[in-house]
Amino acid sequence: MKIPLLDLKAQYRSIKAEVDAAVGKVVEAQDFILGEEVRSLEKEIAAYCGVKYGAGVASGTDALILALRALDIGAGDEVIVPPFTFFASAEAVSIVGAKPVFVDIDPATYNIDPDLIEKKITKHTKAIMPVHLYGQCADMDPILAIAKKRGIKVIEDNAQAIGATYKGRKSGSMSDIAALSFFPSKNLGAFGDAGMVVTNDEKLAERVKSLRVHGGAVQYVHSEIGLNSRLDNLQAAALRIKLKYLDKWLEARRQNAAFYNEKLRGVPVVCPYVPGHNVHTYHQYTLRIKKGQGEIIKYLSDNGIGTRIYYPIPLHLQDCYKFLGYKKGSMPASEAAAQEVFSVPVYPELSQEQKAYIAGKITAFPF
Ligand SMILES: Cc1ncc(COP(=O)(O)O)c(C=O)c1O
Repeated sequence: MKIPLLDLKAQYRSIKAEVDAAVGKVVEAQDFILGEEVRSLEKEIAAYCGVKYGAGVASGTDALILALRALDIGAGDEVIVPPFTFFASAEAVSIVGAKPVFVDIDPATYNIDPDLIEKKITKHTKAIMPVHLYGQCADMDPILAIAKKRGIKVIEDNAQAIGATYKGRKSGSMSDIAALSFFPSKNLGAFGDAGMVVTNDEKLAERVKSLRVHGGAVQYVHSEIGLNSRLDNLQAAALRIKLKYLDKWLEARRQNAAFYNEKLRGVPVVCPYVPGHNVHTYHQYTLRIKKGQGEIIKYLSDNGIGTRIYYPIPLHLQDCYKFLGYKKGSMPASEAAAQEVFSVPVYPELSQEQKAYIAGKITAFPF
């Protein structure tokens, strides 16, 4: 049996008629940049996330960059970020001219460890950027409490966790401003690059809407230097159709995860840990093996099962961040996770037979 890590064709097939019609309408209208579909999507995503405003942008990376810019974070500033995440989390901080300051993760959830944050705060710290990794929220209450006490901002990197909740609050709604990615492989994915900034702060939303069109809300009038980071109408049209199915897809992911949790009981792999206050969305179903990460990945691949390591090199050990002076051993929890985790297929369209095959193969691995 061959089972890819993600099968986007299966999802497309299930909504083809609707999506094709919505995309066709945009092409027919020849209304491509920003436009009505984008405005509607901004309202719908904001409502879905439980916030007042959304600003569609070209990617999740741009959403982070523009969120930082809207908060006036730049040269000389520091932003606290976990090193066990996709590169863009720290890259966005660097792009605006600020310095990423890495804080290690909680090995149980893979999210930033709030207990380690305070000692990294300096007079230059402007914000904390928790990343809701693999689809479940970071422990936000202590993070928000530290930020409040220190008078600094919080930016949620919600690229992977749309629809997740923390103590009943939606991901993306708990901080000053949040970034979403609609990269095709995300739980809500476009047919290309797309992203959104969401916030309850009208001024921040308006600032992002100005920055995304060259720093001028009125054409040819520029109040500041921005960039071209517009969400296009074709992507918005497709995303609006997909949004209607998102909760159903997230539930299917949770059911798939529950199936694996059950089948892998007693097998020497660590299944995802979900604190009682979290509802996970399983953007990834990530397992952990003490020894033999490379071997089990090869074994699963030989058996036709797609896997991936998210992420093999923690950001503090990336060549481009050598100048920050971190060493091997600086972030032990992130470094251990990078050598022990692997993700397996959890997409909503997996059949019972496919899931049973995957669980069966993992169980049969010679640990
Ligand atoms: C945690 C995280 N942050 C940021 C991004 C950047 O999003 P995009 O690929 O849409 O630029 C991604 C997605 O790839 C991500 O997983």
